Amino acid sequence: MKFIHLTDTHVVGADARLYGGNPAAMLSRAVASINTEHGDADRVIITGDLTHWGEPEAYEAFAQAISALTVPVHLMVGNHDATEALFARFPDTPRDPNGFVQTAFETDEGLFILTDTHMPGSHAGQYCAKRLAWLRNTLEQSCGPVFLFLHHPPFKVGIAAMDAIMLQDAEALHTVLAPHKHRIRHLFFGHLHRALFGNWRGISFSCMRGLNHQVALDLNGDPQSIQGNTEVPAYGVALVERDTVVVHMHDFTDSSQHFPLNAPQGTDPRTYALGFKEA
Ligand SMILES: [Fe+2]
Repeated sequence: MKFIHLTDTHVVGADARLYGGNPAAMLSRAVASINTEHGDADRVIITGDLTHWGEPEAYEAFAQAISALTVPVHLMVGNHDATEALFARFPDTPRDPNGFVQTAFETDEGLFILTDTHMPGSHAGQYCAKRLAWLRNTLEQSCGPVFLFLHHPPFKVGIAAMDAIMLQDAEALHTVLAPHKHRIRHLFFGHLHRALFGNWRGISFSCMRGLNHQVALDLNGDPQSIQGNTEVPAYGVALVERDTVVVHMHDFTDSSQHFPLNAPQGTDPRTYALGFKEA
């Protein structure tokens, strides 16, 4: 099964710019790339920060951009989103019984659990007792493989200003996950605007870059100030088999030439490689 992990689209308006970029236009470009290159994907999961300021116009621009997507899409909220404005534009977005933007659904390879870590009025993440109860119940009612999606990471990554706004209820989350850890196949999240891969207490994870602006790799930074940059955007292409989860990071705006690494028949490989010039 193939699916797409897209995150932190930060749309502000149909033609509005943010830190020099045009998030709606970049989302349209990502949508075109997915349709063309990965139209066979099972679904697209967008792990939050759909908009930058959460206004209705931003959700309208976001909706316009993703309306061209030919693959089913699932939306999550991040710290930059406004839940009610999201529901106003996307009234069919599933909610849990307490109104949080959480849902779980079966796929060919296991249960996908999409969580809501939004803390109103804060950029940090929250996973309160009500949300934890929903997650505990969802996990207890299932027995197969689980794929977990969060906006906020439940651990520090070494970038002080981002670590300050990680998921604040990480220990409580871990307590709920722990009995099911053996069947949690991977954790996908956003928020960090960086490509990041690793393992949290035995759970493998990956994070993708955002579409508009990124967070600089600054491991000695000021905890009060997030340093941004304009590294290229990317989305994740996840390939799931019975025994593997592979996540490719796709720099979909890259336009460099594709060329064979192996020399044409009858050509000396060394001469071919050393003499190669881009067209
Ligand atoms: Fe973000």
